[in-house]
Amino acid sequence: MKNIILTGVKPTGTPHLGNYFGAIKPAIDLMREPEAQCFYFIADYHALTTLQSAADMKKYFYEIACTWLAAGLDPEKAVFYRQSDIPEVFELTTILSNVTPKGLMNRAHAYKACVEKNEAAGLDRDADINMGLYNYPILMTADIVLFNTKYVPVGQDQKQHVEIARDIAQYFNKKYGKSLMVPCEKISEQVATLAGLDGRKMSKSYNNVIPLFCTEKQLHKCVMAIKTDCSAPNDPKDTNSILFTLYKLFATPEQTATYEQAFHDGILWSEAKKQLFDVMNAYLLPMREKYDYYMAHHDEVDDILAQGAVKARVIAKETIERVRKAIGSGR
Ligand code: ADP
Ligand code: TRP
Repeated sequence: MKNIILTGVKPTGTPHLGNYFGAIKPAIDLMREPEAQCFYFIADYHALTTLQSAADMKKYFYEIACTWLAAGLDPEKAVFYRQSDIPEVFELTTILSNVTPKGLMNRAHAYKACVEKNEAAGLDRDADINMGLYNYPILMTADIVLFNTKYVPVGQDQKQHVEIARDIAQYFNKKYGKSLMVPCEKISEQVATLAGLDGRKMSKSYNNVIPLFCTEKQLHKCVMAIKTDCSAPNDPKDTNSILFTLYKLFATPEQTATYEQAFHDGILWSEAKKQLFDVMNAYLLPMREKYDYYMAHHDEVDDILAQGAVKARVIAKETIERVRKAIGSGR
């Protein structure tokens, strides 16, 4: 039996390099392995916890969908779909919420962070927190276990969510017999957490992102805005710099060795940025063309996703049948 690999991205903002190297690229690389069967999707209902404008939902939905396709997702090799096209996800969420201890949700990091923020501001601990956020990890568990997923490629920040999915699957199995596959996260060592322009984790929430797809001019501006230390012009430069980390992601090992030598030899930060921009732009150019094509052909994207949903639901229905039987509701 093939290893099932599954991951999703929420359409909550314009995709950035952290999303690409942390989640999307590792997933595309896995798609090319012969023993993998991949399920990749757009987690539109997960976005609802924070995104409550229909226009933004549409915009970001297509941006994420086109990003996956531009990044090399082959719909013949990976099942590609929209979360909300799979009603079984929501049925399974309801069932799983009954074997999920409430305390487990209290400890989930996104909810906990909001509670702590409220408490620090002297507000009610649950001020402005919706049930979507509270139940988020159960919906994510349903996404994962519905497809008998073995590995979930994600960035470091999603590790806890996958651990929760593992716990919930085990609670279910303990109660009802071994009906669900217990998943495991797959975190790419190299880019577990990619830093942004200011050195903190690259994230939409910090406004420090380099967008994956923007014009050459915008990309250039972003690269020039990367924070560097204040070493003198001809001093050796520290390869712990974000410039070096990014360069390595885009360049060949030979290019990286030359760049590293230039750092030791005291390359000017301005020259280091120029060279980084050149490798990034060369890498992103063909992807950008594909992205622009799909952004201009939403109907094609809709067709691909509709066909993906049909394939996904074959598996989803099998799992739901099994789960219904396990809980005593099946025919
Ligand atoms: P953001 O933090 O910008 O809101 P999301 O939470 O939508 O991003 O993340 C989508 C996927 O991209 C997740 O798998 C997440 O782990 C990954 N990811 C996001 N930011 C980074 C980063 N800076 N480095 C590595 N992976 C990241
Ligand atoms: N929670 C993930 C994020 O914020 C998105 C997501 C939803 C997901 N369902 C998933 C990721 C299932 C992996 C598997 O990025």
